[in-house]
Amino acid sequence: MDVPGLVERALKELDAAEDGPALEAIRVRYLGKKGELTAILKQLGSLPAEERKAAGQSVNQAKKTLSEAISGRQKLLQQADLDRELAADRVDVTLPGRGVDAGGHHPVSLAMDRILDIFNRLGFATETGPEVEDDYHNFEALNFPPHHPARAMHDTFYLPDGRLLRTHTSPVQIRVMKNRQPPVRIVAPGRVFRSDSDQTHTPQFHQVEGLLVDTDVTFADLKGLLHDFVNAYFEAELEMRLRPSYFPFTEPSAEVDVRWQNADGSAGRWLEVLGCGMVHPAVLENCGVDSEKYTGYAFGLGVERFAMLRYQVDDLRLFFENDLNFLRQFR
Ligand code: PHE
Repeated sequence: MDVPGLVERALKELDAAEDGPALEAIRVRYLGKKGELTAILKQLGSLPAEERKAAGQSVNQAKKTLSEAISGRQKLLQQADLDRELAADRVDVTLPGRGVDAGGHHPVSLAMDRILDIFNRLGFATETGPEVEDDYHNFEALNFPPHHPARAMHDTFYLPDGRLLRTHTSPVQIRVMKNRQPPVRIVAPGRVFRSDSDQTHTPQFHQVEGLLVDTDVTFADLKGLLHDFVNAYFEAELEMRLRPSYFPFTEPSAEVDVRWQNADGSAGRWLEVLGCGMVHPAVLENCGVDSEKYTGYAFGLGVERFAMLRYQVDDLRLFFENDLNFLRQFR
């Protein structure tokens, strides 16, 4: 009955126990119902009476020592667990935050908003039409007869069902005039599509169409409006010129160029930004508008061209490559 030896052995095992289950195994081995110390306790009865008391005391003392050692070790392990957990979950409140990146509008949207804002203030209401159009609205009603050579200039994307992606915003003229009688004074912004791609052309781009139909509308009104618009848009007197041109739906027709200004302020090349003209009487009649009573003008401008000029971007394709380093400059 080597009680001190047993205690010493148990304490050593306790020191080596690394978790709850190991501790419990030790407790059962020594203090459990069939444990070593319990077995000794049971044998006390067979000792001679004079030894019994001292032996009993030493076994009880051993029990107490072991119980205390077990709960001490248990506390130690629990504290270690807690420390580990705290270390793993530690939040360093001194770290800088991740921040929220402010977004910005795309330069083409900025130009579009600016253009519409100017025309809206001049009394032109905003109208829209579908991007998938039919031949009638995109061509025929605009006085492009079948097989007219001007159709070939439009590089049209056709859908299998014969419809097409509108090549310009001019079909909105037709949709508006078929719905209401003059006076009409609208702008129609939107995406247009042509199978064309180089430094100054992308297969998708944006136009703003303008249409004014009323009594006594003249080409001088059109020229005055465009002059005021260009100056308002650029907040400067940019050089502007009108070149005679041809569109089936306007007569006479003109193309408007604006002189590009180099970064150093010197005059650069002419950039075509607009097509315009007086609404062709045949177009008015196609829409049920009396061409004896009413005249009108129309124009269509390329939004990307206006964005290029205002933001000094010399390659149109930059607008569609979504390079953040480029886009962030417009925030
Ligand atoms: N729709 C023409 C184009 O896309 C532009 C235009 C619009 C010309 C209105 C005259 C009048 O080229």
